[in-house]
Amino acid sequence: MEAADGSAELKRKAALAALDLVEPGMKLGLGTGSTAKLLVEALGKRVAEGLDLVCVPTSEATRAQAEALGVRLTTLDETPALDLTIDGADEIDPQLRLIKGGGGALLREKIVAFASARMVVIADQSKRVNELGRFPLPVEVTPFGHGATRLRIQDAARSVGLAGEITLRQRDGRTFVTDGGNYIYDCAFGRIAKPERLAEALATIPGVVEHGLFIGFAQAAFVGTPEGVIRISADGDREQ
Ligand code: 5RP
Repeated sequence: MEAADGSAELKRKAALAALDLVEPGMKLGLGTGSTAKLLVEALGKRVAEGLDLVCVPTSEATRAQAEALGVRLTTLDETPALDLTIDGADEIDPQLRLIKGGGGALLREKIVAFASARMVVIADQSKRVNELGRFPLPVEVTPFGHGATRLRIQDAARSVGLAGEITLRQRDGRTFVTDGGNYIYDCAFGRIAKPERLAEALATIPGVVEHGLFIGFAQAAFVGTPEGVIRISADGDREQ
């Protein structure tokens, strides 16, 4: 369904700008979410016109969409090194640190991005923030002992001066289960002044499978605005 606020058009602009980076023969990681869906849709058209490449999807939803469009798929076991991953984000800060996982695919997204020489983010302008944390941070946990893990997440947050509601994600009246069979806690910590410190603290908890802080992953972000697409990178912002 198209978003009533017009963000779908801005997401589409960003997705199309990033699609220009895709070249024949590439090994490409495909993200998850409504923006990535628009990318895969456009990629499907290019494939139908003859573009030959091979892709690794970051979720079962993206796999199903890409397969239906005739996009050739592989796995990281067959193809362990990718050229580029294009994915959405829930928040992007000026240093290209991200919050991801709103769509519940953060674990595969991080594995795929880590296997890629480059990661490029696509988003509408609402995702751009000065500081991460307005969007609750998704933390993927194993179902076993998840109540205890929740308390350890709370302790980890406190150790870096953060606190807030930590809520087990629900969907359709049931606990949401990721493609990997795990649960997600959405952590409303508010402003995360030092994301690196929080990431380190969360990584020490045995029940935490992965968290949605993507630090040092993205080299660039294409952000759709009503005026056009802005490309954010270490060199600063520039219009596309
Ligand atoms: C999924 C993600 C998505 O990239 C993120 O939630 C952005 O989604 P959308 O493009 O629908 O705004 O991290 O796990």
